[in-house]
Amino acid sequence: MNQTIENLKSRRSIRKFKDEQISDEELKIILETATYAPTGRGAQSPKIVVIQNPETIKEFSEWNRSYFPTEMPEDMDPFYGGKTLLIVLADSEFPTYIEDGSSVLTVIVNAAHAIGVGSCWIHRARDEFASQKGKDLLKKWGIPESYEGIGHVVLGYPDIDAPKPLPRKKDYIHYID
Ligand SMILES: Cc1cc2nc3c(=O)[nH]c(=O)nc-3n(C[C@H](O)[C@H](O)[C@H](O)COP(=O)(O)O)c2cc1C
Repeated sequence: MNQTIENLKSRRSIRKFKDEQISDEELKIILETATYAPTGRGAQSPKIVVIQNPETIKEFSEWNRSYFPTEMPEDMDPFYGGKTLLIVLADSEFPTYIEDGSSVLTVIVNAAHAIGVGSCWIHRARDEFASQKGKDLLKKWGIPESYEGIGHVVLGYPDIDAPKPLPRKKDYIHYID
């Protein structure tokens, strides 16, 4: 099978990581590839925030957990011990910003898998950056306040075999005349 197709089909969300940071070269490849994601009108409006400081990741993990809809156990890390945290933000002034940010997130997880880096897309960035703390962070980072959180990706070397995908839904695809 074509290698790209094989990679797209074999990528799975990884939720257990080795205690080892990914290489700078791998991170660079993933980030650069993400900037080639399709965006509405080619506006490239999303931004990718990169966090590798373990203390900062821990702080963001606790923040993320605070938005979990049901009670999450104290020892449950919503980032699963991922060594690198990426946050994708997108500019709400663009009509396609949610799609643009999601497009970037999709490229990130697939680029990571293609070079042997495990990843998991993590939710609740919208809640985080709608809050006063999120707005303060945008200001601190020099990012306009029109930016919203679209999603996170945690990256690391998988410490687990890739889980088996669920069977694909039979009615996923509709052919019409
Ligand atoms: C919008 C979106 C939000 C997600 N949020 C989370 C999340 O917060 N935590 C998590 O463990 N996985 C999250 N995932 C990963 C999905 O659970 C995962 O993609 C799905 O179960 C299918 O598994 P696979 O990625 O291994 O194919 C999210 C995926 C998407 C697309």
